[in-house]
Amino acid sequence: MSKLYQPIQIGAVRLDHRIVQAPLTRLRSEQPGDVPSAMMVKYYAQRASKGGLQIAEATPVSVQGRGYLGAPGIYNDAQVEGWRKVVDAVHAKGGIIFLQLWHVGRQSHVSLTGGAAPLAPSAIPVQDLVYTRDGWVKTSPSRALETVEIKEIVEQFRQGAIRAKAAGFDGVEIHGANGYLIDQFLQDGSNKRTDIYGGSIENRTLFLLEVTEAVTSVWGGERVGVRLGPSGTFGSMSDSNPDALFGHAAAQLNRFGLAYLHLIEPRIDGSKLRADGLPPVAAHQLRRVFKGPIIAAGGFERDSAEAMVESGDADLVAFGRHFAANPDLVERLRRNLTLSPHDRDTFYGGDERGYTDYPCHDDLAEVA
Ligand SMILES: Cc1cc2nc3c(=O)[nH]c(=O)nc-3n(C[C@H](O)[C@H](O)[C@H](O)COP(=O)(O)O)c2cc1C
Repeated sequence: MSKLYQPIQIGAVRLDHRIVQAPLTRLRSEQPGDVPSAMMVKYYAQRASKGGLQIAEATPVSVQGRGYLGAPGIYNDAQVEGWRKVVDAVHAKGGIIFLQLWHVGRQSHVSLTGGAAPLAPSAIPVQDLVYTRDGWVKTSPSRALETVEIKEIVEQFRQGAIRAKAAGFDGVEIHGANGYLIDQFLQDGSNKRTDIYGGSIENRTLFLLEVTEAVTSVWGGERVGVRLGPSGTFGSMSDSNPDALFGHAAAQLNRFGLAYLHLIEPRIDGSKLRADGLPPVAAHQLRRVFKGPIIAAGGFERDSAEAMVESGDADLVAFGRHFAANPDLVERLRRNLTLSPHDRDTFYGGDERGYTDYPCHDDLAEVA
């Protein structure tokens, strides 16, 4: 039996297998209020497996951190109560669930932030899309954070971590990937600051480390994961030396004794080379630097996931789109059953369709 189906200890958490549900933004919280909905309770419970880890979707730690209408929040008591129902339903099935803490930074629109300009390390115009009440629209121009404001955002992450604990989560993941605020600080295409948060790789990594310090002060390192996306370009991201940057970030994260480092692999674009002709930064490189467990994500299938954990480059594999379309994904992978295809059109927002109505394999078998 492949290692993929074998138990593993990550930080304080014992898992029965290494198949992880990747965080997936689905924009189905109750509006207004960003409170986790009954539909979400059902969705997460459907995908829970005994001793399996689910990372709940990216969840803003403040109003200013919102970037997508319909994403649930973790900045008030009603949201905590909503999340508690999700967590209880997952626990009832023996599952383990972490919450992904999020601040979108410049990837936002004034209709989502309470009228304020989206915040960024530097006010660089980008032409990306965010989801608002008028559908997908261009991001609003951002404003560069004052140095003193950065501490306020670190504190918002700490408060989010406290609220996640109050909701009963088993741990939290810090969203440092996909072109959102932490990633915007890390990469030099989006960070042109001249204070201690910009310039050198050490300075650009500071915000990530301060957030991690704040969140681990609440949870302890052994119930905190960090997600990085060294090769992603979503959100107009770029860096002049990603190997050095992400190598440094991974090495610095060692000091927190984290439950895991979660890396989005460049696989989603095949083996595309970077502009400088080098292969993008991947798990096998950071494996040599980071001392704890590694979760790899991005374009995995059953065979490649099994090969990944066998190779030792990662300890666990997270699946995104396959989990969206296959509530019983763990069982299907174990038994090598056919996977249902996902429907992109129902990823973001809407009702139960394309969300909680994907059948389990055994239901399909009965129909046939
Ligand atoms: C609909 C959708 C929503 C996503 N939302 C998030 C998110 O909230 N946080 C995050 O870190 N990544 C998010 N991602 C990225 C996934 O976690 C994952 O890295 C990506 O889908 C690649 O894995 P896959 O090939 O198994 O789908 C999202 C991806 C999709 C398709």
